[in-house]
Amino acid sequence: MSEIHKGLAGVVVDTTTISKVNPETNSLLYRGYPVQELAARCSFEEVAYLLWYGELPTPEQRAEFETLERSLRHLDPVVKRIVDELPTTAHPMDVLRTAVSAIGAADPHADDSSRDGNLRKSTALLAQIPSIIAYDQRRRRDEDLVEPRDDLGYSANFLHMTFGELPDLVVVNAFDVSMILYAEHSFNASTFTARVITSTLSDLYSAVTGAIGALKGPLHGGANEAVMHIFDEIGGVDAVDPWLEVALGQKRKIMGFGHRVYKNGDSRVPTMKAALDTLITEYDRPDLLAIYDRLEAGMLAAKNLKPNLDYPSGPAYHLMGFDTQFFTPLFVAARITGWTAHIMEQLESNALIRPLSEYVGPEQREVSASETLD
Ligand code: ACO
Repeated sequence: MSEIHKGLAGVVVDTTTISKVNPETNSLLYRGYPVQELAARCSFEEVAYLLWYGELPTPEQRAEFETLERSLRHLDPVVKRIVDELPTTAHPMDVLRTAVSAIGAADPHADDSSRDGNLRKSTALLAQIPSIIAYDQRRRRDEDLVEPRDDLGYSANFLHMTFGELPDLVVVNAFDVSMILYAEHSFNASTFTARVITSTLSDLYSAVTGAIGALKGPLHGGANEAVMHIFDEIGGVDAVDPWLEVALGQKRKIMGFGHRVYKNGDSRVPTMKAALDTLITEYDRPDLLAIYDRLEAGMLAAKNLKPNLDYPSGPAYHLMGFDTQFFTPLFVAARITGWTAHIMEQLESNALIRPLSEYVGPEQREVSASETLD
């Protein structure tokens, strides 16, 4: 019997220069820079550039990159028509997955897997995913599309396209921080999915479409949406303890807690919690903070489990005004940077990813005459 690594837990499958997760020191580095410092000092556009090019941009490189990103924000009419055809009962992650696949189908150079070709496609997806998400939320509210503005940075434009008005700086900053924190996290399930698809020499759009599917699950990106459902289910701070007792008694997984790699707390949580605190003050919502703190304390006492990034980001996106179903698409908007950086890295020294399995079914046998159909 071979040694089985269920869920590939603890298995190192390749090297990477993109990010380093260190659970012992509770740190996360993007290309060597602590993510907390990047969140404090850089914009999301600069972090996207860093992930793709390996270095932070010079002022000239930043200006050129921003100009390019802003020029690519408009949706192809084909893509908009396809989104229009999809029912509003569809989950926004399914709409986004379909729209990204449609962008690929509409791109005559979809199979250009050169680094320049993949950088072009990655920048276009970075620019257009916000346009899809904003449009999808607006059409569900019977609101018209708001066209992108090229005089606004990434986060301000995203919020403007979604809500139709210029956002407060506090909200722009909190949103930008969330994008930076969600951008990259080594060989997580969706990134690994993208690398597996890329390893067959399939195209970047196929890899991203598959990654969106992997991110949708509640054990991965879907948890930020699930966290908000839990807050709604609990209702008020006095209900937290009895709710938790029942939920754990039913062996429910409490979304937003625990992590496969971090066992002593997720390195990104303090920064996102600080951003959430600014929103709680801005919108005067101590009731939300009370539930947050009480559930966190309850999970520590009952299960010795700490929150992951999805725990503070769920209520943060709620306060910004996003509908709950759109929280995981926001994760996609950020993680497109990490996924595509990994797709390009995989292609630099590709090997088909094809693990083995231990067969434990019946031994070889023959189909008997009575089982054979005429
Ligand atoms: N609530 C309740 N119990 C939990 C939780 C949780 N959130 N997380 C882990 N546990 C318990 C498990 O029930 C298990 O207990 P047992 O040994 O008594 O059966 C033990 O802790 C180990 O859990 P596993 O699921 O085996 O640990 P794993 O490393 O595979 O799980 C995971 C990591 C999937 C993230 C898990 O903690 C979980 O399901 N959390 C909730 C979903 C979530 O928040 N996902 C977001 C991940 S981070 C991100 O995508 C940004």
